[in-house]
Amino acid sequence: MKEVVVNLPHERHYPIYIGPGLLAESERLRRHVTGTKVFVITNDVVAPLYLDQLLESLRGLDVYSKILADGESHKTLDTAATIFDALIAVPCDRETTVISLGGGVTGDIAGFAAACYQRGIPYIQIPTTLLAQVDSAVGGKTAVNHPYGKNMIGVFHQPVCVISDTDTLSTLDDRQLRAGLAETIKYGLIRDPEFANWLEANVDALLTRDSAALSYAVERSCQIKAAIVSEDECERGVRAILNFGHTFGHAIETGQGYGAWLHGEAVAAGMVIAARVSNLMGWLSSADYLRTENLLQRVGLPIRAPVELTAARLIELMAVDKKVSRGTLRLILLKTVGDARIVSDYPADVIKTAIEQLRDTESISAR
Ligand code: NAD
Ligand code: GLY
Repeated sequence: MKEVVVNLPHERHYPIYIGPGLLAESERLRRHVTGTKVFVITNDVVAPLYLDQLLESLRGLDVYSKILADGESHKTLDTAATIFDALIAVPCDRETTVISLGGGVTGDIAGFAAACYQRGIPYIQIPTTLLAQVDSAVGGKTAVNHPYGKNMIGVFHQPVCVISDTDTLSTLDDRQLRAGLAETIKYGLIRDPEFANWLEANVDALLTRDSAALSYAVERSCQIKAAIVSEDECERGVRAILNFGHTFGHAIETGQGYGAWLHGEAVAAGMVIAARVSNLMGWLSSADYLRTENLLQRVGLPIRAPVELTAARLIELMAVDKKVSRGTLRLILLKTVGDARIVSDYPADVIKTAIEQLRDTESISAR
């Protein structure tokens, strides 16, 4: 078992546990439960797989659960309202611990509900997708979507711990695994050239679910994310680099309607666009641009935006991005592999040029 700590002021630091069999480790889980009441939030895909194991580990506590419908299209205020109804019906108090069991959709909405209920109650993240283990369960961003913008309604609320049982990845389908690898690759591109090299060398092991390779990928990703979040918890500065590829990715997700492409797939195509913009700015070399594209393609991720979304439409959708400040969209671009920068000053037409150049080539769509 590996442990990574997210260091935060005011004694809010918390551990991320990574390893096999952690769902069954009742003692570790209970150590982080406040009070005796627990409210588990999961969904109708994950519940049949892992809810019983979790309930067994919580035996003896006063446990309630809410099973949501699966899917990004349910990450809404309406779904959050049904969670509030259920918390009030119990009734849950401020000593209740919410536990999220599932992927990033469940984690984001459960965290949002925990953040808002009675102005904030504790919650534990138990991520069961690769994407959630390497990214969404860590760092306290919680949110629901708005029809006009992804994650537009949300709040920062840190979990009390993250328990990443790597055994749960065995039931994930290949497409979801690849989507999680997109966020994993992001860390190498923005912060750690050695990790990028390691990912290039270990793509096959990761795709065949070699457990040592997957565990290392989760651990290294969490170390990088934890360091960035510790430095800038509420995204006043450097944390924005974690959104590399996301401005374009979120526009793809919103433009298509949530759920058509997976978040990681949209981010993969978004990272290629961001890398191309970086290249057009004279930063990322053409060789490193191609490395980025090749790595994502080897994983089996989309490296072009969906054909139906024009450059003009994507740019229109980006206007509601959370990185728009005083009317200017800040971009996350690469100086080199492993060195991301936040940029507000760029030629007006560089985004359009990059998207159009990429659209000119053969479109590779998500499966
Ligand atoms: P998801 O939660 O929809 O999970 C993907 C699919 O896998 C779902 O059908 C889910 O039910 C299923 N699933 C989950 N665990 C499984 C398992 N062990 N075995 C089999 N099936 C399983 O999607 P995701 O990719 O985990 O997360 C995407 C979401 O995360 C998006 O909403 C995105 O905005 C959000 N996100 C948030 C942050 C953050 O910092 N809060 C960061 C990145 C992404
Ligand atoms: N996924 C981006 C962040 O947590 O800041």
